[in-house]
Amino acid sequence: MIISDILGTIVCHQDGTPNTEKFYFIVGGLDLQEERTPVHIGQYVSVKTDEGLIIAHVEKVQKTNRYFSQIDAVSDFTRTGKPFSGIFPVDRWEYLLAEAKPLGLFKEGRVQRLTYPPSPGAQVRIPDTKVLSDFLGFSAQGLHLGSLLFHDIPAIFNLTRMFQKHVALLAMSGAGKSYTAAVMIEELLLRRSEDGRPAILILDVHGEYSGLEESHSSSGAKFEDKITVIRSPLIELATPKLNSTDFARYSPEMSGIQVRELTRIIRTLRKARKGKTYGLDDLIAAIENDPSGNVRTREALLGWLDNLHRLRLFGRTSTPNWSKIMIPGKAVILDMSDTISLRKKQIIAAEIIQQLFYLRRENEIPPTIVLVEEAHQFCPEARRGLAYSKGILETVAREGRKYNLGLALISQRPVRLSTTVLSQCGTNIFLRITNPNDLDHLKSSSEQITRSTLASISSLSVGEALVVGQGTRFPVFIKVRPRLTKETGFGDDFETVAKRFDKEGNR
Ligand SMILES: Nc1ncnc2c1ncn2[C@@H]1O[C@H](COP(=O)(O)OP(=O)(O)OP(=O)(O)O)[C@@H](O)[C@H]1O
Ligand SMILES: [Mg+2]
Repeated sequence: MIISDILGTIVCHQDGTPNTEKFYFIVGGLDLQEERTPVHIGQYVSVKTDEGLIIAHVEKVQKTNRYFSQIDAVSDFTRTGKPFSGIFPVDRWEYLLAEAKPLGLFKEGRVQRLTYPPSPGAQVRIPDTKVLSDFLGFSAQGLHLGSLLFHDIPAIFNLTRMFQKHVALLAMSGAGKSYTAAVMIEELLLRRSEDGRPAILILDVHGEYSGLEESHSSSGAKFEDKITVIRSPLIELATPKLNSTDFARYSPEMSGIQVRELTRIIRTLRKARKGKTYGLDDLIAAIENDPSGNVRTREALLGWLDNLHRLRLFGRTSTPNWSKIMIPGKAVILDMSDTISLRKKQIIAAEIIQQLFYLRRENEIPPTIVLVEEAHQFCPEARRGLAYSKGILETVAREGRKYNLGLALISQRPVRLSTTVLSQCGTNIFLRITNPNDLDHLKSSSEQITRSTLASISSLSVGEALVVGQGTRFPVFIKVRPRLTKETGFGDDFETVAKRFDKEGNR
């Protein structure tokens, strides 16, 4: 029979515990004839003391049996060929020992540092729901991303703590990053005006977020009027807003002389246009028709600009109008699935984020969250020249908090993600990661990630996440909640498509 919420009893251990860092407890006890394992790694436990309530985290669970620790005796007996259980009550000697790490002392609603250890013999219990929720720092009006693993408690994260210093969502492919990101966006879109609603931009590399428009009928929530999907071929960047250094950024081999010459030509063009807009073709024509200056410089410039012109990205005005389209409680999905060129995707990302940063500084758009899928493509660790969007993403990572421009970066290759950007992410959401290089990289990029945390990241199941950092008072394991909206399907599986192709050809 299980008696209430009691899990076990603290014991003295030869490594000097219980102390303020660690204690062991025997799971079950004389009155707790327990069949199933009632304690899991990652679960929280509480111990009542005179100072207050200690909340601890279970780090290890181990089974021991003093009979089987006598290697010689076991070996001798094995040779007799008789079953152990018939002669010795070995089952009764088996017990479960759990190692727990005290996180803090909860007293009068406040979390304090533990300065005094719990006593041997003290009872270890399952913490009360409300107490644990308050202790972990979950807040009522936050983002309900799922439930605390092993506890039936909603995991609700405070918006400010989560997004003031950016979020990184990291995991191997197929672990549930995009799913979790969609849940996070649903939560942002469900916020009430009085609780504060940010605007959202999703850089959707694979075109997998449009399903957010369509709710499951059972969910009762409607999202379609909160979503605007823009396909990347419709994006136009305003040429008049670009000066020669912007062009140089997108043509990194442009020489100093060429940049100066371009500055002069742009100045002349702007004067001639008297405040009217112009496109990249007008700028190219201005260079072609400019009689002064060095012919070689002019030709080089024409080469660079022609190269950019072929991206079909630079027009007279900015489309869409970002100051109009970023609205509180609404999301813009920038579907880049039609754009294959990585360079073009990076330039689009760079210019749009640059604009949002500017508009946010001027307070012309609401506090904004920019979600970047495949973030390692936009801000890689490799040298700057390789990603046109790296500079602005690093700027937003460093300074975005001052202007309430938050990033949510998604990547399956943390190793390839800019360390500058990664180290600025105050909250990390990890789903399953098994690649040792990625795990090492995470260890070196955040002091909050311990060896045991790393070990748990590699053993998470699909849809299970570890949230670490500012969004939570302590690292927490959560089960991500089911989506309210539909997932965008990518069609049939490999085998089905292969069969169909064989039968019907490429019709
Ligand atoms: N919390 C969850 N509950 C139920 N199913 C989930 C959950 N998380 C992920 N899945 C399922 O797992 C699969 C992979 O999820 P998802 O596409 O989000 O992975 P990913 O990490 O974004 O992968 P990739 O790196 O390839 O983009 C999907 O079919 C999704 O439905
Ligand atoms: Mg994905």
